[in-house]
Amino acid sequence: MFHLVYVSSAVKPFSKSDLLTLLVKSRENNTKQGVSGMLLYKDGNFMQLLEGEETVVRNLFEVITQDSRHRGAIVLLEEQISEPSFRDWSMGFRDLADENLNAVAGYTRIMNSPLNASNLKSNRDACLDLLYFFSKSR
Ligand SMILES: Cc1cc2nc3c(=O)[nH]c(=O)nc-3n(C[C@H](O)[C@H](O)[C@H](O)COP(=O)(O)O)c2cc1C
Repeated sequence: MFHLVYVSSAVKPFSKSDLLTLLVKSRENNTKQGVSGMLLYKDGNFMQLLEGEETVVRNLFEVITQDSRHRGAIVLLEEQISEPSFRDWSMGFRDLADENLNAVAGYTRIMNSPLNASNLKSNRDACLDLLYFFSKSR
């Protein structure tokens, strides 16, 4: 088992319906491939965790990076894992624009800074905590 987290930037902002289209397709494909994960979207930036069999995850990531709807994908972490943490989600999703950021104790600092590599690369645990938090809450 393997997981990979990256950030990227939308070429133009995704509407709610653009996001829904992306999610429906992703969930359909991921279910077939035994991939699970979590996608966060905030102000035109994505953070996504993909987990599953290593070759499958790497191949999927390759497909995703070729997608012309976003650019500038930067891998924040890639490592072997003993078990998936998001197995209930073929692709969990949260649009952080919908969140009351101040209600999320401890995460405000990360959330109020752009989801970019320089802010997050140094902070692997905070990044994983953020993804786990949004997969569990609500
Ligand atoms: C930010 C982002 C995340 C994506 N995540 C996934 C994903 O988890 N699974 C997936 O199959 N496709 C994902 N895609 C879509 C792929 O890039 C690609 O469009 C899709 O896999 C093509 O599927 P198809 O060959 O069945 O049409 C994502 C695209 C973007 C822009």
